[in-house]
Amino acid sequence: MDGMTFPANTWPEADALLYDDAVKARVDHLYERVKDVVTPMEWPKFATLIDAINRLKVERGATILAHNYMTPEIFNCVGDITGDSLKLAQVAADAEEDVIVQAGVHFMAETAKILSPHKTVLIPDMEAGCSLAASITGADVQRIKAAYPDLPIVTYVNTSAEVKAYSDICCTSSNAVQVVEAVAAQWGVDTVIMIPDEYLAKNVAAQTGIKILTWKGSCEVHEQFTPQDLDDLRAAHPDAVILTHPECPPDVMAKADFAGSTGAMASYVKDHAPKKAILITECSMSDNVSVENPGVQFVKPCNLCPHMKRITLTGIYEALRDMKHAVEVDPAIAEKARASLQAMLDLPKAAKPPHFDTGRDAVAVPYVSV
Ligand code: 13P
Ligand code: SF4
Repeated sequence: MDGMTFPANTWPEADALLYDDAVKARVDHLYERVKDVVTPMEWPKFATLIDAINRLKVERGATILAHNYMTPEIFNCVGDITGDSLKLAQVAADAEEDVIVQAGVHFMAETAKILSPHKTVLIPDMEAGCSLAASITGADVQRIKAAYPDLPIVTYVNTSAEVKAYSDICCTSSNAVQVVEAVAAQWGVDTVIMIPDEYLAKNVAAQTGIKILTWKGSCEVHEQFTPQDLDDLRAAHPDAVILTHPECPPDVMAKADFAGSTGAMASYVKDHAPKKAILITECSMSDNVSVENPGVQFVKPCNLCPHMKRITLTGIYEALRDMKHAVEVDPAIAEKARASLQAMLDLPKAAKPPHFDTGRDAVAVPYVSV
């Protein structure tokens, strides 16, 4: 990063930030928001970082995009735009600020950079990966394309730029069914390749008449949930609504009352205000949805995403202070990946994130053979 571009760095190490009266006056109102999910012991340390980050954002002309799986002090106290993968991608395409800090994992930052190539996109930790993104390479997609030249390849956004570049269109968990149906109609085919999440592919296949071939990838967080877990939760909390993410195996989704992207789950809770809710997804999501819905009691089965949890307030502070770590994508790859993302973004926007019907029968979804 060119040292002339930004003001000289006068910000101290994170540990040297002080929780004094001025800081308290500026950020203690934010504690009201998170007081049920952040302890008073944790707050002073968080408060100094939150104050510094919010001031640095102004200095740097930056906006923070925070995914629903961020811890509550990040999500609620420094995130400018919050939401699911689709919303963050849509916002990244239109952001006015010159600097985007991605409070999320690497594929999300890469997506922001692809959609806004002239902006500086920072991620607090370059190692914040994803088991789905790690399950497939660009070379794999080229082999699939060679084996199935007449079938469109729908690729989950949880993938590298290279994988997106060799695909025909991207999808998120929010628009996956819509994308599969739209691309099948555009290509005039009854079969679509959907990679790399085999569970998302199976869950989508159960919602549509389109046949799907898939890849053996999965989310290491959602694949851990079992039908037995849901039976146990249902027995212990018969009055609770159970919501699942479509990255869960289909036999888990079949036991739930509702399924959808993280954005769809949050919107269900807001609209229906159930007495008690259980979100079958990453842990921090329940904390964040509970902040918005204080009247709802949450049972929190806790599966943490180790990649999402690499993003911390300290990391965000250091990213803004030192303008690191800038995400770069090879321009030729970025141009092709942008076409796949744009094909998705050009589809009509749903007024509300759509959901999956949990009552559908499972259908066979073979793996591609390459
Ligand atoms: P969504 O926010 O799009 O539902 O994605 C969930 C997820 O696992 C992101 O890594
Ligand atoms: Fe990837 Fe799953 Fe973590 Fe999301 S929750 S980043 S899909 S490993």
